[in-house]
Amino acid sequence: MQIPRLHPDTIEEVKLRADIVDVVSEYVVLRKRGKDFVGLCPFHDEKSPSFTVSQTKQMYYCFGCQAGGNAIKFVMELGKRSFADVVLDLARRYQVPVQTLEPEQRQELQRQLSLREQLYEVLASSAQFYQHALRQSQGQQALQYLQSNRQFKEETIQQFGLGYAPAGWETLYRYLVEDKHYPAQILEKAGLIKPRKEGGGYYDVFRDRLMIPIRDVQGRVIAFGGRTLTDEQPKYLNSPETELFSKGETLFALDQAKGGISQLDQAVVVEGYFDAIALHAAGINNAVASLGTALSLEQVRLILRYTESKQLVLNFDADKAGTNAAERAIGEIAELAYKGEVQLKILNLPDGKDADEYLHSHTPEDYGELLKNAPLWLDWQIQQIIQDRDLKQATDFQQVTQQIVKLLKNIANSDTRNYYVSYCAEILSLGDTRLIPLRVENLLTQIAPPPATYSKPVSARKAWGSSKSPLPTPHSPLPTERSLLEHAEALLLRIYLHCPEQRQLIIDELEERDLQFSLSHHRFLWQQILEISSVDGETKNLASSPDLISRLQDQFLEFGSEMGLISHLFHVDEKNQKEILRTPQVVQAAIACMDLVMLEKRYRHFLELWQQTDPEAEPERYQSYYQAFYAEKIKLQQIDRQRLFSITELL
Ligand code: UTP
Ligand code: MN
Repeated sequence: MQIPRLHPDTIEEVKLRADIVDVVSEYVVLRKRGKDFVGLCPFHDEKSPSFTVSQTKQMYYCFGCQAGGNAIKFVMELGKRSFADVVLDLARRYQVPVQTLEPEQRQELQRQLSLREQLYEVLASSAQFYQHALRQSQGQQALQYLQSNRQFKEETIQQFGLGYAPAGWETLYRYLVEDKHYPAQILEKAGLIKPRKEGGGYYDVFRDRLMIPIRDVQGRVIAFGGRTLTDEQPKYLNSPETELFSKGETLFALDQAKGGISQLDQAVVVEGYFDAIALHAAGINNAVASLGTALSLEQVRLILRYTESKQLVLNFDADKAGTNAAERAIGEIAELAYKGEVQLKILNLPDGKDADEYLHSHTPEDYGELLKNAPLWLDWQIQQIIQDRDLKQATDFQQVTQQIVKLLKNIANSDTRNYYVSYCAEILSLGDTRLIPLRVENLLTQIAPPPATYSKPVSARKAWGSSKSPLPTPHSPLPTERSLLEHAEALLLRIYLHCPEQRQLIIDELEERDLQFSLSHHRFLWQQILEISSVDGETKNLASSPDLISRLQDQFLEFGSEMGLISHLFHVDEKNQKEILRTPQVVQAAIACMDLVMLEKRYRHFLELWQQTDPEAEPERYQSYYQAFYAEKIKLQQIDRQRLFSITELL
């Protein structure tokens, strides 16, 4: 659909209604600090929050990377989306009537808006109908089941809006279409009725089932799960995918759990509807259910919005456990866990019970205790590997070692990997501490070369310690992507400033690869350099302009704060001297490093967009994201890693 021109009133109204704190909270965990809110900036990597949101000003600003603007700008920047696209989206979400300048397009949008509204309405009415039926004589058996088999109190039944779909073929149809005059097409689009194959008319999708409303984060009913009370298959019948409901992007009970999740800074994910309900009934109110499929990235993102330290406990059925089953359930989040972007823990309840069963014979405190002691996913996997093995037997020892090596190779973060290497070496030493160094050595050789592009010699830490660079602090871990990038950029700038004969090469390289400086203070310095050069007329003249540094220094007298971060570039010490002497190889290495970081960023960006796109709804977009990320991947493979290594030596 072509994006229509929006009426200025619509834009104004969106600005009024889309509260910035609300909009930003969807992507960033915000904490109140004084009048404002603060959080980790989504536009650059950081460990302590410098991103602020002001409700009174309806603006955001990051002290780290200087990103700033209003709610519309925020969504635009984050999703790399156009203005009109974002305004339309926000209008939909905040129920702002859309006025466009072309009448036909206006009608089309109104139609879409009103379709969604009608769907919400008919689903809410159905939920009421099912709740009512549960209290009639026809629902007696279902109610009995909830009270006796499930041991639910009235309060819980109410809280989750549980109901009963009567046994007839068209009870819901008659009530909503014949009595209430809802259009049958709307019921059909909501997944509640289906057209009969013969003879016309419709029949109810859910019949003689216990009904569990599935709600979105705002608590609106978007679908149902219906459990049979007999042996009928399937045990659970779920609403089909609709305009409002997408299974892979929904978590059951998140509307009830989001408060608990942010309070406890942790989410518990179970498999079954009734497990989640039973946990809430037991006062464990940070539980959600995954709707019986592998957890998708989308679902995890939804949860992680509410936990600042990204803690997720998976409580999946233990009988089905085994590493493979768990891995399947963990699905796409495995990678996030290996990268350390989510703290994933695994909880298996004793005797292969699910949470609902467990709570029938144990107290909520018992469950809480198990939750507290749930192992991290990596530890859990190691437990699984060594479980029932006799490491004194050569074959077992060899197989276990192989599995452990495979596991260790997956860990992207080098600190974490080193930790687990020692940990596993200890296990493989069977209590003989003299063997540990040997085992460490062994594991390290087997997992080399490390998967992370930026792992580098340990001596790096020393080099940083003695450097005048403001980053990282003495307590920070080994240089990461950011500090490597910072070093490469600083090097390039320093060479530019101190070696006039290299200037043209640097400008050409940056231009050819379309590279920008990523760190704001470097970008700032580069802008100043370019500005001076434009005053000088042609960039080329710069190559012969030896007083560049003194002119920059004059210029910077007005910019105290930025100056602090870059002033070291104006001076050359012994170590810098060595680096500079090795130009132009160093220029090439620094450029390669910046190039690689940018490529990886773009690759991840497009990959993420691709994963978020529905191939059926937007096939063209899906295809183009795929091509985009694939192209970046190819470039990544082609990049000359050899050149890159020379820069890691400099650190
Ligand atoms: P399970 O069948 O594993 O267990 O379904 P359960 O929830 O403990 O079932 P109860 O206790 O006997 O009622 C786990 C989840 O998988 C989805 C549902 O979301 C269910 O809660 N599921 C299961 C389906 O969608 N369809 C099915 O046929 C079965
Ligand atoms: Mn169960």
